[in-house]
Amino acid sequence: MDTPRPASRDSFRIEGGVPLRGVVRISGAKNAALPAMAATLLTADECLLENVPEIDDVWSMARILRVLGADVRSEGQGRWLIRAAGANETDAPSDLVVHLRASFLVMGALLARLGEAACAAPGGDVVGQRPLDVHLGGFRALGAELGRRGDKFFAKGKPLRGARIFLDYPSVMGTENIMLAAALAEGTTTVVNAAAEPEIAFLADMINAMGGRIRGAGSHTVEIEGVERLHGAHLRIIPDRIEAGTFATAVAATRGDVELVEAQPRHLDALIYKMREIGVQVSEHEGGMRVVGQQSYRATAVQAVPYPGLATDLQAVVAALLTQAGGVSFVHERVFDNRMMYVGELRKFGAEVVSAGATAVISGPTPLIGATARALDIRAGAAAMIAALVAEGVSTLTDAYHLDRGYELLRDKLRGLGARVERVAH
Ligand code: EPU
Repeated sequence: MDTPRPASRDSFRIEGGVPLRGVVRISGAKNAALPAMAATLLTADECLLENVPEIDDVWSMARILRVLGADVRSEGQGRWLIRAAGANETDAPSDLVVHLRASFLVMGALLARLGEAACAAPGGDVVGQRPLDVHLGGFRALGAELGRRGDKFFAKGKPLRGARIFLDYPSVMGTENIMLAAALAEGTTTVVNAAAEPEIAFLADMINAMGGRIRGAGSHTVEIEGVERLHGAHLRIIPDRIEAGTFATAVAATRGDVELVEAQPRHLDALIYKMREIGVQVSEHEGGMRVVGQQSYRATAVQAVPYPGLATDLQAVVAALLTQAGGVSFVHERVFDNRMMYVGELRKFGAEVVSAGATAVISGPTPLIGATARALDIRAGAAAMIAALVAEGVSTLTDAYHLDRGYELLRDKLRGLGARVERVAH
């Protein structure tokens, strides 16, 4: 149960042209689970996390926490018990950090609890330059001394002292790292121009459940009153809005009809608004939402911006859906500087899409045809998967491991909705 799976070179074989139909349960959010796992380092007590998705990024984070000295146990069914009483190692293991961007969150937590932390520049998806100045500037503002130790960034300072911090950019993990570092600092920290994503509000809920005092998370001003110590907590990870959005676009693109159980429509305003605008029927209700595809859609223009705007993580899957809309659509990426690579993969299916800088220009509707394409990263892979589900004929999607990093039981969930998807081992 507890063994991490190695990254595989498997691919997916997809026979497309089948409308997705039925009911799918949305998993816990990757980008809420990973910060929550890092937050367990803030206390010596045991934390219980439920609804943690069984995805490779979670296994990677678990391995990093273990190297740092935490006792990490998966009980199955998404229940993880983490007790960082023995965590006394302040250097994150570089060989593991390279696989996972979120690993950098251990910096803030270790700095808060142990007064010292070191971590290499983390890996993760190649979607742009992804600097760390917001994170490091935040630590410095709290009084930490910064430097380099070999391949690692190094931060040291105890006690940290609360400060008023302005973020040049509302970085999601930058905000989270500052919240983690400030949770045990002396005095109050105010983060101005903070990121407002629901996962940040969740991290605040977790730290508050541990005895912390954070207000305003989920807005652009977050106030963190440092406390002397934090205790264990029991949290249920919020539903994954990006997984929900991925299924919603897949259902619409295949002209299907699916109930997304546990999807949280309040976290998907921008997507739902755009889907309705192009003609998709979306109904929201307690405990989920239903997406009903139509035969024809209208083109539109969308831009990926920080929350509550359309998530950059949904930009590629929306583009895949818009290949089925009549007219010329524009999809503009305003968060990362290199997130249009999927355009070349969509073209392999016959999509009429070109990228001009950070904009994809899509002419539709185009009938898609089976092709061999690569999952370039988690979300680019999801866009190619949607094209394959729509396409007539057989497609092969290579580098399935990218999808394994972020989507729980993707093949099984798609098969449950009638898709003909198989995993091919290499
Ligand atoms: N940025 C800076 N300085 C920094 C940090 C970021 O300029 O110190 C810039 C980046 O270059 C980018 C923008 O800020 O242009 C947004 O980056 P952000 O820091 O907000 O992204 P992140 O925290 O590294 C998280 C998610 C990503 C998601 C982004 C944006 C996690 C673990 N990752 O990354 O998720 O795309 O926010 O919403 O929460 C994914 O799940 O596939 C994924 C890539």
